[in-house]
Amino acid sequence: MPDPGGAGRGRAHDGVAATSTGAGAIPGEAATGPADEAAAAAAPPPCALVIFGASGDLTRRKLVPALYALACDGLLPAGFAVVGTGRSEMSDAAFRETMRDAVTRFARVRFDAAAWERFAAALHYVAMEYAASGLARLSERLEAVDRAHGTGGNRIYYFATPPSAFVPLAELLGEAGMSQEEGGALRRLVVEKPFGRNLATARELNTALHHAFEEPQIYRIDHYLGKETVQNVMVFRFANGIFEPIWNRQYIDHVQITVAETLGVEGRGAYYEEAGALRDIIQNHVMQLAAIVGMEPPGNFEAETVRDEKVKLLRAIRPIHPDDALRHTVRGQYAAGEIDGEPVPGYREEPGVEPESLRETYVAMKLDIDNWRWAGTPFYLRTGKRLPSRATEIAIQFRRVPHSPFSGHRATPGGALPPGGIEPNLLLVRIQPDEGISLRFGAKVPGQSMRIRSVDMDFRYGSSFARQSPDAYERLLLDAMLGDATLFAREDEVEEAWRVCTAILDGWRAHPPDRAHTPNYPAGAWGPEAADAFIRRDGREWRRP
Ligand code: BG6
Repeated sequence: MPDPGGAGRGRAHDGVAATSTGAGAIPGEAATGPADEAAAAAAPPPCALVIFGASGDLTRRKLVPALYALACDGLLPAGFAVVGTGRSEMSDAAFRETMRDAVTRFARVRFDAAAWERFAAALHYVAMEYAASGLARLSERLEAVDRAHGTGGNRIYYFATPPSAFVPLAELLGEAGMSQEEGGALRRLVVEKPFGRNLATARELNTALHHAFEEPQIYRIDHYLGKETVQNVMVFRFANGIFEPIWNRQYIDHVQITVAETLGVEGRGAYYEEAGALRDIIQNHVMQLAAIVGMEPPGNFEAETVRDEKVKLLRAIRPIHPDDALRHTVRGQYAAGEIDGEPVPGYREEPGVEPESLRETYVAMKLDIDNWRWAGTPFYLRTGKRLPSRATEIAIQFRRVPHSPFSGHRATPGGALPPGGIEPNLLLVRIQPDEGISLRFGAKVPGQSMRIRSVDMDFRYGSSFARQSPDAYERLLLDAMLGDATLFAREDEVEEAWRVCTAILDGWRAHPPDRAHTPNYPAGAWGPEAADAFIRRDGREWRRP
């Protein structure tokens, strides 16, 4: 593969373990950058990345910009090529031109014409029907690419198509013998979301993929796992001695995980009508966050060890019977309103959405976890489109002090001393934006009287590290090339997350939302009022990020 960065070097697979050995020391950090990282590293083996669905949005917005950034950082293998496939006819030149525009617009790194030329030489496109004849054409082209770029017959197939094509494509690859790792060649499969629509279809999909690929060859992508701050939750928990002893029901009152978006459905109305917020965000991204917050410490950072612990946590989530779904969840849909002072249409006015749609764009729910660590400490999850601010965060709300010697003293005006006590401690992990971690505690307000106010001790990625975080897809594409599945969902994880969500979907189907009260929140509000009442029933409040 051409080396746009000119470094011609590989990259350390420095997961959490490497970071914990001191790579994150701040003074050194400012002086290091991608080149140092690349120099310290083992390169991924040569390979061709075959993207099915290469004329789609994901390839343009995420995949090729991420590959270009990796190339600029000198992190791609020396023998590397991309072979895009799709039904539309397109020459290599036209594909490269479209991708040039995509990289200019969406890559994390600045566009550099010389770097682009070197990278673009490795981009190819094959127009094909998703049928045996198409696969034969692809196979021929791949052999030529192997010879031209020295990719050694190693292939990573990336399913970036609509999900209806996943099974037929896997079958075709299997039948054509293109999934078998013969003669030491690597054959891996990266599968995009959505992974099924419910537990039954996720199982069917797993079974169908397994006809062609072994589980260790399959990389189910959840881009949240590639986010630097999500990986940092594991570092925070398991590379520091002081938090783990209090990370349990004895000290933690509850956990709140929020994925709030100001965006609407962004032209994806037809997809969203099928999906809804539970399938789109909770089943994958939020369940993964819950698993990382709640899991037991893994013995090492090997893919299977980490995923074993995550799946144990998911298995411990108390089943919600469909009849109880409404007690454990709140659904919402946004009406027209305002975001950042600008009027925005309601969900039902979005293109591709039914004018009478009852599809949820907001979900709040409560999970109980039946194990010793978490019994009695619920996890509240929520996500919504068109909320007042964009914020993904994990809030660990600690218990109140058992007794406050200061309770006879007054709160500061506007301060936060609640009647009879001090605000409980809060540990806030900000996944995005303004990535960082803060710890809230009570402090004495300077002066003659004993007044207490909550203050925050704050760590910000932006100011502590001089280096830009890679995009989630950069990390995940590189890991797939390196054969590290730690940050990918295993079949049992996906099925466990679906187990919980499918019962809710079944309950919701039996009890559709009230037409008279849909939509039930204006764009720009923090979801429906029912969500506030839902958590207040437990004597708690949602945070307002
Ligand atoms: C995607 C969902 O998986 O995640 C989108 O399909 C959502 O609806 C997106 O907007 C959010 O991702 P991020 O990285 O912007 O938080």
